Amino acid sequence: VTARPVLYVVGCGARPSADLPEFAEWAISQGWDTCVILTPSALKFADPARLVEATGHPARSDYKRPEEPDVLPPPAAFAVAPCTFNTVGKWAAGISDTLALGLLNEALGAGRPITAVPNPHVDLAKHPAFLRNVEFLRGCGVQVLFDPERYPLPNGTNDPRGIFPWDALKHAVAEMLTRVRFGS
Ligand SMILES: Cc1cc2nc3c(=O)[nH]c(=O)nc-3n(C[C@H](O)[C@H](O)[C@H](O)COP(=O)(O)O)c2cc1C
Repeated sequence: VTARPVLYVVGCGARPSADLPEFAEWAISQGWDTCVILTPSALKFADPARLVEATGHPARSDYKRPEEPDVLPPPAAFAVAPCTFNTVGKWAAGISDTLALGLLNEALGAGRPITAVPNPHVDLAKHPAFLRNVEFLRGCGVQVLFDPERYPLPNGTNDPRGIFPWDALKHAVAEMLTRVRFGS
C-alpha cells in the first residue's frame, strides 16, 4: 500500500479557521493524509477536538517539548488558510515564534509546494509592507491567492466566513496533489 501524501493545513487567527474541519474532510476525500496546525490565536476560532475527529491527527498549536516524540507524519505540501496579516509579515521576515511559522519557514526553505490565502481587513491589505510581503512570498515560490477583486476581503460589514475563497483553494490544493504524486 502506498502511503497517502501528507498535507499540512495551517490555520491562523481569523474567523474562517472555524471552517477548517470541513476543508480537512474535503482534503482527505481527495487522497491527502491531512494534519491541521493552528497558531495560538487560531484557537479562538477553531475547535481542536473537532479537527482531531476529522483528521485522526492531533491539531497542534505549539512546539513540542524536547523529550516528546514527533506526532505528525512529515509534510509533502501546505495550505495556509486563513493566513493573517500578522503571519504573512512574520513569515516573509523569517520569524518562527509559532509552531505554524516554524513549519512554514522550513517548508519554504525546502521548496515544498505551499498555497496561502491571506485574508487581511481591506485597509490592512493596502499596507505597503503587506503588499511587499505577498510579492516576496510569491518570488519564493509560494502560491498566494491574493486578488481582492476576485477574492473579497473582510471589510467590517461582510461575512468573513462567507467570502473566504475555499473553492479557489481547493483548486490549488488539487494541483499540488498532482505535483506531489507525479512530480510535475
Ligand atoms: C474577532 C477577530 C477577527 C480577526 N480577523 C482577522 C482577519 O480576518 N484577518 C487578519 O489578518 N487578522 C484578523 N484578526 C487579528 C489576528 O487574530 C491577530 O493579528 C493575531 O495576532 C494573529 O495571530 P496569528 O497570525 O499567529 O494567527 C482578528 C482578530 C480577532 C479578535
